[in-house]
Amino acid sequence: MRIVLGVSGGVAAYKAVLLLRLLREQGHAVRVVPTASALRFVGAPTWEALSGEPATDQVFEDVEHVPHVALGKGADLVVVAPATADLLARAAAGRADDLLTSTLLTARCPVVMAPAMHTEMWEHPATVANVATLRARGVHVIEPASGRLTGADTGPGRLPEPDEIARTALDVAAGAGQAGVPGDLAGRRVVVSAGGTREPIDPVRFIGNRSSGRQGVALARAARERGAHVTLIAANLAADVLGPGAGPDQVVAVETTAQLRESVRAAAATADVVVMAAAVADFRPAAAPGTKIKKVAGHAPAPIELVENPDVLAELARDRLRPGQVVVGFAAETGDAAGSVLEHGRAKARRKGADLLVVNAVGEGRGFGVDTNDVTVLDGAGEVVAQASGTKRDVADAVWDAVLKVAGPAS
Ligand code: CTP
Repeated sequence: MRIVLGVSGGVAAYKAVLLLRLLREQGHAVRVVPTASALRFVGAPTWEALSGEPATDQVFEDVEHVPHVALGKGADLVVVAPATADLLARAAAGRADDLLTSTLLTARCPVVMAPAMHTEMWEHPATVANVATLRARGVHVIEPASGRLTGADTGPGRLPEPDEIARTALDVAAGAGQAGVPGDLAGRRVVVSAGGTREPIDPVRFIGNRSSGRQGVALARAARERGAHVTLIAANLAADVLGPGAGPDQVVAVETTAQLRESVRAAAATADVVVMAAAVADFRPAAAPGTKIKKVAGHAPAPIELVENPDVLAELARDRLRPGQVVVGFAAETGDAAGSVLEHGRAKARRKGADLLVVNAVGEGRGFGVDTNDVTVLDGAGEVVAQASGTKRDVADAVWDAVLKVAGPAS
């Protein structure tokens, strides 16, 4: 693949040297296009020695080859790392005031930007608006990592590690033209619930489930990258699940089914799509004492009486909190003597009344905690409308593609 690696001027430019090496080691031809200020951090000889190609910010060099047009047009992928606040602003405004911004204007291939800057700059409304503009145009803007910045300060704004950027950029390039059209969810508000609810038995114990939240987070990330405004209702996500990558616009942490129900319904009131990817506990202890249940030697513990929780998905499908809202459920099935995975899924689709039900075969190393998934998407009548397998991101894109088929135009 022919990759243009844009580097703008920040201390994190040194990490782009490692990114360049990684991309070259994977056999890609890389042309580095630094900005003038990037060259103050890392000089042209470093870029040229490691890439084997010239590295300049100038449009008036090598003019006979018209590099300000040729580089962008000839690239299969453009990666900008680090992307400074200034570079994001210039790209969002469509400027062509150096070789990198000209290249961005002529590129017709996937463009991935990895911002790095101080937290204040990243959170400034001007930068937020520039990122939203770029994302709506289909640029894949990687969410910065949180951590130590240039000085002693910490916060969001740190450049993700080079291997993470390389992986994301190559994934984006590989996925281009397949599922997941950049920007096709622009203007839509979506709510995704993820993780698994916990029902307290006493202040220290709970009834829970094995859901890590990976599929829900992949759905939220895919939606965000495709331009949607995303609210994630996060029920006890596993520690590393949110990680780097495009984060949701809003994250509401919940623990119990009652909290999840309240938060989902509040967010759903203004949402175009609600996806219930969370594993919701069907039952909760009838009473949870405020103090720890003690073991009494020689006595069997008192049985825990369970009561049924409301079915959040079925309620959403019934109540339709916003006209035209698309309601999507998930069903993790194992299949049993009473029916196959698909038969259980079909029955559930009809019972829940959602517009789409994503049926997921679990057990035997599939589904929970693993990085891949294998799903069938059913409509409300139980008919198969799509099938997808692959990474949780692939599945997420297939779900959003199915949502777009049943959703009306963005309001
Ligand atoms: N769900 C929900 N509220 C519940 C239970 C489940 O909103 N109390 C949602 C889940 O988020 C998921 C879908 O319903 O989108 C299916 O969940 P699942 O547990 O498979 O369905 P159940 O109705 O509990 O069926 P089963 O008897 O298979 O447990």
